[in-house]
Formats: sequence, C-alpha cells, structure tokens
Amino acid sequence: MSLTSEETVLASLREVVGRSHVLTEPDLVAGYVRDWTGRWTGRTAAVVRPGSVAEVQEVVTVCHKAGTAVVPQGGNTGLVGGSVPHHGEVVLSLRRLDRLDPIDEASLSVTVGAGATIGAIQEHAHRAGLRYGVDLASRASATIGGTIATNAGGTHVVSNGDTRHQVLGLEVVLADGTRLSRLDRMPKESLGPDPLHLMIGSEGTLGVITSARLRLLSGAREQPMVILLALQTLSEGLGFLGPGVLALEFFDSACLEAVIGHRGLARPFRAEAPFYLLIESDRTPSIPDRAVAVVDRSLWSYRESITETLNGLGVPIKLDVAVPLDRVDDFAGAVTGMDLEGDTYLFGHLAEGNFHVNIVGNRDPEAVVDRVLELVVGHGGVIASEHGVGVAKAAWWRRTTDPSLLAFHRHVKEALDPDRIMNPAVLWGD
Ligand code: FAD
Ligand code: MLT
Ligand code: ZN
Repeated sequence: MSLTSEETVLASLREVVGRSHVLTEPDLVAGYVRDWTGRWTGRTAAVVRPGSVAEVQEVVTVCHKAGTAVVPQGGNTGLVGGSVPHHGEVVLSLRRLDRLDPIDEASLSVTVGAGATIGAIQEHAHRAGLRYGVDLASRASATIGGTIATNAGGTHVVSNGDTRHQVLGLEVVLADGTRLSRLDRMPKESLGPDPLHLMIGSEGTLGVITSARLRLLSGAREQPMVILLALQTLSEGLGFLGPGVLALEFFDSACLEAVIGHRGLARPFRAEAPFYLLIESDRTPSIPDRAVAVVDRSLWSYRESITETLNGLGVPIKLDVAVPLDRVDDFAGAVTGMDLEGDTYLFGHLAEGNFHVNIVGNRDPEAVVDRVLELVVGHGGVIASEHGVGVAKAAWWRRTTDPSLLAFHRHVKEALDPDRIMNPAVLWGD
C-alpha cells in the first residue's frame, strides 16, 4: 500500500470502529503481529477491533475496495503461523464479538459471537448442566471463531468428535463484505449444498466467521476417572480404546522430565518409562497387573503443561501430524531415531494417531519440517492433523494434496475471494 492509500484506509477504518479500536502504535500491535510460539513476527499498518457484525462488514468492505489484505484473528493461539500478518495485512481482531446468548435447552444449543473463548463457552454451558464438546489447554484465549477456522481437535475428539461435529450454524462475512447467515438452519434441511461446511477449517482464507450456533452435550460429567499409566509402547495404550473412554492422551519421557523440571510437578512414578498415557474414562478400565498407574484428577496438569513448558525452553518447531493407528510404534521409533539437531519431544492425542512432534534448539526449521513430514507421508499419515496448514505447511499442503482436491480448493478460493485479500499467506502463500 502506498502511504496515501494507507492513510485513506486507516481514516475510513477509524470512522467505522472509532479511533480507539484502530491500533497502530508498535507497543499496542506487538501482541497481534507475533504468533504464540514466537516463531513468526509480521507487521501491520493497523489492528482493527470491530464491535458488531455490521462493523465487520464495513471493515471488510473498506479493505476490499482498497485491495488491502486482511488477517482475521481470534485469540492468536494458533500454532501454524496463520493468525499473524506476514506481509503487512490489516489484522481484523474478532475478540470484541464475545456475546453468549441464552442457552436453548430444548434444542441443546447456544449461539455465540466469534470472539467468545472456549473457556467462557464451557462455563456458560456448565451453568446449565451442559457441556461444549471441544476442550483444549488454550481455552482461556482460543476463540470459537479461531477453533472453527482451524477445525480444532483437542483432548476429547475420541468421545465428542472435532469442532466440525459441534457446529450447527454459522454467520460469516465474505471477502466483499456480504453477510451470509446460516445460524437458523432447521435440524432437517435439504436445500442444496450448505456453505457453512466450507468455512470450517478455512483458516481465514474464505471469509470471517462472526457467530456460531453450537451443539451442547447433555449431562455435565461430575468426576470421570483419570488415570496415568507408564507404557513401553504406544500400541499398548491403544488397547484401552473402548466404551467409556473420554480421552486418551500420551507424552514421552522427555515431556515428563520437562514438566517436572520446569513446572515443579511431582514425579508420578519411581521408574522411568518411554511413554505415559493419560486415560479419562466414565468406566474403570482394566489395567494389567504389570502396569504402573496412578489415579487422580489433577493428572491432567502433566499433559496440559507441556505446550507452555516447551515454549519456555526456546522457540519450538511444532509439527502436528497423524499416522494410521497400526503405524504409531513405527512412527514413534523412526522420529525419535532421527537426529533433528535439537531436543525432540513427543506428545499427542493417541486415539486419533495424532503426534505433536516438537523440536527445541534447532536453528533450521525448514529442514526439520521437510524431514519429519517426509516421514509422516512415508507412514501413510497426514501432515496437518488439528492445528491447520497455516504458513507452516502451505508448501507441503500444495505438494501432497491430491491434484483433483487441490483444484477444487482453488476454484472455491477464486470464487469467494478472487482478489485474494483474505489471509493470503495461508494455504496459497509463498
Ligand atoms: P487464532 O490463532 O487467532 O487464528 C487461527 C486461524 O484461524 C488463523 O488462520 C486465523 O486467520 C483464523 N481465524 C481466527 N478467527 C477467525 C474468524 N473469526 N473467522 C475466520 N478466520 C478466523 N489446537 C488444537 O486443535 N488442539 C489442542 O489441543 C490445542 N491445544 C493448544 C494448547 C495451547 C497451550 C496452545 C497455545 C494452543 C493450542 N492449540 C490447540 C492451538 C490453538 O489454540 C487452536 O488452533 C485454536 O483453534 C486457535 O484459536 P484462536 O482463536 O486463538 O485463533
Ligand atoms: C496439545 O495437544 O497440547 C496442543 O495441540 C498444543 C501443542 O501441540 O503444543
Ligand atoms: Zn493437540
């Protein structure tokens, strides 16, 4: 953008949302241009904070007319570099759209603004004796808009499904400022393809999610059983899959040592094991005699502290991938056997074959990404399991997606965002 057109755009944006909601000072924009891990820092002419859907429409219309690119942003907890402006895009922060409508107990659903956090939605549901099906350690900041845009998974996919399974309706603002509402879909409808499905997982590249109607689950669970188990192999852990299992999470001994050392948590077992498994269950699982196990609700803190702990050790290279369940041992062995010129940590959502491969201390992220993703593809896996593609895996996404599917994505992008103003660095960027 030239200086004059930038000034004109900023003046129009100030008119739309008010001066105090157009942030331009470096210290005010700093938290919006840097991603949660610190791996990517971008730049922006402004962070714009609309307070209503109508304002979102006007902001997008101003940017569309000026040909100014926009990065929608929720809690900025994304882990693939998709939420920050890489090439000077305007940041459109949705955090002020945080309304929580009254719960509709008849249909077990609730409508919320895109900026409502997962934590706030959980609390709102709990007050009515209900639950929202997706939970993740970033719940205090991650927004419903961001989790829908990334189709976030989290810790309870095995029992509740991922975000896609919770969305009953959406309201979005498209790249030209048009508002499209599918909030009031009937439970039974057959009126042609539904555009809301395209928005889930679109990572801000097709439009801005402004509201969502969500399915809620009945019966707030009082105290499900939580067990931590020492394992020799991950496939042993898969043996616990079955009725009543609400979560099946694993981490390796490097993760355990890190959280003990850096978070002051007590050592749960005397002897070291290669892997640890956290099982949350409605029923008491049968634990083999030789397995060492502890039972306590607070065990979640071992699993949920890993991400913050690793961030404290340096800027991690984070690879979120999945392999078929019958390949988990092979993959774990192969990745730990690689010299990735840094410290490797493995954890993830075992029931889905999900691995979070984190490397701390390596100074050449691109080479590491290539080597690990090569291995994932070689094991018949997927290169992006629950965090999305973002910029971190854009080149790999284009290279490994089936050509007919990639052509479909290209048609959709060209139809909905022909001027490429919506988050251009993500999926289709350099
Ligand atoms: P942001 O980071 O702001 O944005 C993420 C992407 O969504 C960007 O591409 C952005 O452009 C787009 N976007 C955001 N809001 C909108 C909107 N309203 N409309 C259109 N596009 C939008 N992820 C998991 O899947 N499972 C986990 O278990 C998990 N645990 C985590 C734990 C920690 C401690 C942290 C820091 C992160 C974790 N994450 C996890 C990653 C992250 O929380 C999720 O990706 C989450 O969905 C991001 O939500 P957000 O509101 O922060 O989105
Ligand atoms: C998790 O499962 O804890 C998250 O996806 C965060 C991460 O990968 O660090
Ligand atoms: Zn995860």
